[in-house]
Amino acid sequence: MSDLAIEPFKEGRNHKVIGQLSCPPDKSITHRALIFSAMARGTSQITNPLLGADCLSTMQVFRDLGVAIALPNGQSKSITVRSEGWSSWKSPQHPLDYGNSGTTARLLTGVFAASPNLIIEASGDSSLNKRPMQRVVGPLQTMGADITGETNGSYLPYKITGVQLKSQEHVFDKASAQVKSCMIMAGMNTKGKTTIKLPHGSRDHTEKMLELMAAPISSKVLEEKGIKWEVVSIDGPWHPVAKDYSIPGDPSSAAFWSVLGAISLNKSTYITITNMLYNETRIGFLKALKRLGVNYAIVEKMMQNSPEPVVDLVIKNSQLKGTEIEATLIPAMIDEVPVLAVLAAFAQGETWFRGLEELRVKESDRLEQTHALLKLMGAESKIVGNDLWIKGGLEQVTSFKYNPHHDHRLAMAAAVAAKFAMQTCTVEEHECAAVSYPAFYNCLENF
Ligand code: S3P
Repeated sequence: MSDLAIEPFKEGRNHKVIGQLSCPPDKSITHRALIFSAMARGTSQITNPLLGADCLSTMQVFRDLGVAIALPNGQSKSITVRSEGWSSWKSPQHPLDYGNSGTTARLLTGVFAASPNLIIEASGDSSLNKRPMQRVVGPLQTMGADITGETNGSYLPYKITGVQLKSQEHVFDKASAQVKSCMIMAGMNTKGKTTIKLPHGSRDHTEKMLELMAAPISSKVLEEKGIKWEVVSIDGPWHPVAKDYSIPGDPSSAAFWSVLGAISLNKSTYITITNMLYNETRIGFLKALKRLGVNYAIVEKMMQNSPEPVVDLVIKNSQLKGTEIEATLIPAMIDEVPVLAVLAAFAQGETWFRGLEELRVKESDRLEQTHALLKLMGAESKIVGNDLWIKGGLEQVTSFKYNPHHDHRLAMAAAVAAKFAMQTCTVEEHECAAVSYPAFYNCLENF
């Protein structure tokens, strides 16, 4: 891991941020396409997959179970997955490595717990091994899952002995897509109805992709005492069939370029980010951009074999103003808060982000680390409980050296801020960006 020096734009905020780039493929949908392809019997092609470290972890896990996965090569832009189906997976001889990937860990805990005769041991890197797993392990254990480890499955590493689970109804107090998807996937190999009730708003790719395959899944939104809940049910067992996927662009990656363009004061600033996924549960950051005064447009597009709609996002010269982002909006922008906080530092007036407790259990304590970045940039901010307050009005970033604590989103948020600094800034251990966006620094150079 090494330091990266980032040279600021010579004209600072007057720099004309102009260009067009293709939105890098979506991490969440790539994971799910890989998992469904490995469950299906036959050959599936995944076109335009994200080849970031997290998705490579999911791929390697399935290879370790005997699924044949070929990466794109000269002739093909697709991953080819050849599987004999869910029940053909072989118990590996060595522990599985989930790397830094919370999505791999949480989703596959549900999948493996519900895979009779499969025995796996799994671990992650130092960051992943500190992330809470009880939120999936506990509910799976109530269905009969056999998960053991030093912490009884509260944290990785742990061992899973797959068994036939008993279907059940679960109620969660957090809007988490990883938890929801874990339980849905466990329900896919469990007889009867597995029902998950959770606060509304987390990403719904698992449900959408299963609906497209005509899986016996239903999903509805209820309002009880002013709180919106989602209730998702899957009637198992049901296995996907092999099919072809095209992966749309990742809004979480598009957010970095949106902020880069929005900070610029140059009237000719104009960025086009093509083929970005357009899904209500992922575009909270667009709502935040609007409230912060960002001038943007979206243009509908078509992408064959994409499980969800895509758009081109155009960012133009903006006049930033402070705002308040309420807690119910956070699940739809959960990964974009650090870079939106960087943007809010430049807005006229104060900004509040409410209800950020889930940021504390991401790849790092993202709430503390975002606050630390703002401070290094010379912006005034404070954490009040789980809310973040940012004073706004920052004109130029103080040059800084920042350690992102192995957190890709923080490294990239810092790199965007660095482009508006007085002097060279340093992002330590910058390589962690490859978790979700391997080409990030090269793209940054192009502006
Ligand atoms: C993800 C869900 C989100 C997000 C993560 C990817 C997913 O976490 O932060 O990067 O693919 O399901 P939550 O479980 O908090 O929704």
